[in-house]
This record gives sequence, C-alpha cells and structure tokens, in this order.
Amino acid sequence: MAFQISVLNGPNLNLIGSREPDFYGRESYDEVNRKIKVKALELGIEVRIFQSNHEGELIDAIHDARNWADAIIINPGALSHYSYAVRDALTAVRLPAIEVHISNVHAREEFRRVSIISPVVIGQIVGLGTNGYLLAMQAIQQVVDASHR
Ligand code: DQA
Repeated sequence: MAFQISVLNGPNLNLIGSREPDFYGRESYDEVNRKIKVKALELGIEVRIFQSNHEGELIDAIHDARNWADAIIINPGALSHYSYAVRDALTAVRLPAIEVHISNVHAREEFRRVSIISPVVIGQIVGLGTNGYLLAMQAIQQVVDASHR
C-alpha cells in the first residue's frame, strides 16, 4: 500500500498567493496543492490535503489522520506560536510529523521565532517557500522507511 500523508494547513493559509506575497509568494493555495499532488504521485505517496481557519477543525483532522495516515505534514500558521491544543493533538496521535513554514519565521517578528509545536515533531522546514511541503514529503517518507529497516 502507498505511503499515506495528511497535509494540514492552519489559519489564513487559504489566502496565500494574495496574502503578503513578499513572505508567502504568489502561487495560490490551489496551485500549491496541485504541486504537492504531482510530487506525491512521483514519490508514490497518497496525500490528502486539508486547511482550516479553526483550531478545533485542525485538531479533528489530526485525530482523523490516526485512522489512515502514516505521517503528518503540518503548517499550523500562527497556531504554531501558541496552540498547546494542536501540540497535544500531535503528541496524542503519535504519528511522525514535520512542521513546515513557507516564510523564514526567524527573519520576521520576534513572536514567530518560537514554535511550541517543534518539540513534538521530527523536524521543521522553514523559509524555503512552498517547496517546503515537497521537501517534507520526501523527508518524512525517508525517515519512516529508515525506521522500518
Ligand atoms: C507561517 C508563519 C506563521 O508565523 C504565520 O502566522 C502563518 C504562516 C508560514 O508558513 O510561514 O500564517 O506558518
């Protein structure tokens, strides 16, 4: 069976393309998702992509991943900086996860430098634009494969 990844995006990520393009680029959310799906096909990965502006919906999606996914890729948006509930959900499902940030959060406002999610994920991909999602798919597949050897 194909490796299965749940790609989750938090608040305001549906607006990329028009939202602060200096930070998030000009590709629309749909264009980015198409790119993710093409790469997934290439890597033999089954991917399901979800975005919500609501913390609870994101938490439900993390719980749901437990029923089918091998791994999670998550860009929690601003929730990264303060949502203990998202962090607890990731810990609870015990799926390997990678945190992605499109922008370089370390080169922006002070509050973005801290992610309370990062201690419970395998790693972070930060500041590499939307390619971060593609790199994360490749990385997490390799990490999980290596752990099965
Ligand atoms: C973001 C960075 C966050 O600080 C911000 O709140 C976002 C997007 C990123 O992808 O760079 O919404 O997660």
